[in-house]
Amino acid sequence: MADNRPADPNLIHRLATGYMGTCVLLAALELNVLDEISGKSLTSAEVAEALELDPRPVDRLLVALTALGLLEREEGKYSCSPEAERYLVKSSPSYFGDYYRFQVRECLMPDFIRLDELIRQNRAIMSDNWAEFMSDPEKARVFILGQHSASQGGGRMLARKFDFSAYRNMVDLAGGSGACSIAACQGNPELKSVIIDFPNVLKVAEEIIEKEGLSDRITTQPGDLRKDDWPEGDLMLISLIISGYSKETQLKVFRKCFDKLPSGGAIVVHDFLMDGDYKGPLLSALYNITSVEGVPLSGEDMASLLQEAGFVEPVMDTVIPEYTAMVAARKP
Ligand SMILES: C[S@@+](CC[C@H](N)C(=O)[O-])C[C@H]1O[C@@H](n2cnc3c(N)ncnc32)[C@H](O)[C@@H]1O
Repeated sequence: MADNRPADPNLIHRLATGYMGTCVLLAALELNVLDEISGKSLTSAEVAEALELDPRPVDRLLVALTALGLLEREEGKYSCSPEAERYLVKSSPSYFGDYYRFQVRECLMPDFIRLDELIRQNRAIMSDNWAEFMSDPEKARVFILGQHSASQGGGRMLARKFDFSAYRNMVDLAGGSGACSIAACQGNPELKSVIIDFPNVLKVAEEIIEKEGLSDRITTQPGDLRKDDWPEGDLMLISLIISGYSKETQLKVFRKCFDKLPSGGAIVVHDFLMDGDYKGPLLSALYNITSVEGVPLSGEDMASLLQEAGFVEPVMDTVIPEYTAMVAARKP
């Protein structure tokens, strides 16, 4: 035993019933419960009437949402907690509930429930092969719309942590919806970006980029980073993918990035990186479960890989606290 503290059964209860909380959150999002309560103070009967639902299950749902910290209850009336108001009400600029509605519910949860089977078969969550998964237009759309909902905030946080202003031509490898490129370009008017990803992903990305009015500065190029080529640039960004690949693929991609950069150019890796002792962050550890072929890497491991590919002066920083981190390095 690692320490002498008394064994706490609630640790197990909380873990084993965590899925119930997930499902309560997903139900609230699907039923627009938080949107209805947003900015108001309502009884459960008023919420049920507005949503044209039976009052009894709504009452139970609101009690559970309160216990979970998403609603506040005063004298029988419910209002949104600050977290729900900011992140889970669809009209909020910081809303990221579609990540849970689309990617978590549709893509991750059906496989997480059979994780034991996948581990026995040595298979990954969702698919062992991203190219194959993204060859289905509907799967690609659902996944990427969900990813965009989460990565908008992550992209903005990355743009606050890394100074994009010194660069003009970024290559956003496996750039998905373009969320990171959008955040970086919005804050840096002289920056242009090209997103490399699979064709069905890029269709969704192009729609999003057009809506943001950035089609003149953010372009797309279909490609599989394991085998296809990509353009030169002065900055290579690779966000939330490379830690899922094998060391061999990671080095191949980093070496190619090195070749595509001028002296003084930089690479930024943003990912689910572990602390040096591999004990956390919890969310990084859990997302590493979804890896296609990787092993959990710390920021130091990622920095060593970049150095092995020729990069120098790696700098590590947290991006989304308790969730993601980045390592940036430059070509000498
Ligand atoms: C979790 S998403 C991250 C998207 C984006 N970088 C972000 O931070 O929001 C992973 C992305 O990697 C893309 N991807 C995975 N393997 C790839 C490969 N071999 N070549 C190109 N894109 C790839 C997927 O299609 C998907 O868009």
